[in-house]
Amino acid sequence: MKDLIRMKTSLSEEIEALLNNQVKLEAKSSSIYLAMASFCDQLGFENSSEFFFEQAEEERVHMLKIFKYIGDAGGNPVSPEVTDIPQEFGNFRGTYESALEQEIEVTKAINKIVSAAYKEGDHATANFLQWFISEQQEEEFTARKRLELFDVIGTDGIGSYMIDQKIPEIGPPPAEPGA
Ligand code: FEO
Repeated sequence: MKDLIRMKTSLSEEIEALLNNQVKLEAKSSSIYLAMASFCDQLGFENSSEFFFEQAEEERVHMLKIFKYIGDAGGNPVSPEVTDIPQEFGNFRGTYESALEQEIEVTKAINKIVSAAYKEGDHATANFLQWFISEQQEEEFTARKRLELFDVIGTDGIGSYMIDQKIPEIGPPPAEPGA
């Protein structure tokens, strides 16, 4: 019976569980970014608040993409329960440090699923996740660039205000030569 149920889906139990775990991780990322938006708003950093709000929306889209993929592959996507969301992040810089840490954690989790997918010969899942690999490369790049603002400008005097002004200027990495 169990085997018959598995025939309904092209996903192995392990891959389905990893993907559902990723759904949860993306949902958690979305909620944490929302908390960061609120925290920055309370500190008076409007651009950062807006930036984290947009990030929260992006992460929700990531969650939905994976959720839909599981369902389309005949699996059972699980609506995630998200708990233990931190509501404050120490200070302005700490918020961006936490954001980078979070993105690194997501990258590792995606890599883990891709490795497992290749190991099982599940090329469809590995192929589906290529978009996420590129997305994570970009998100880590921009997260590091934002953090660099704290080193370059510093937070003394009007430094924090200046950093907040610069946040919207950080864009994706430049295209590779010849691309
Ligand atoms: Fe969807 Fe940046 O994690």
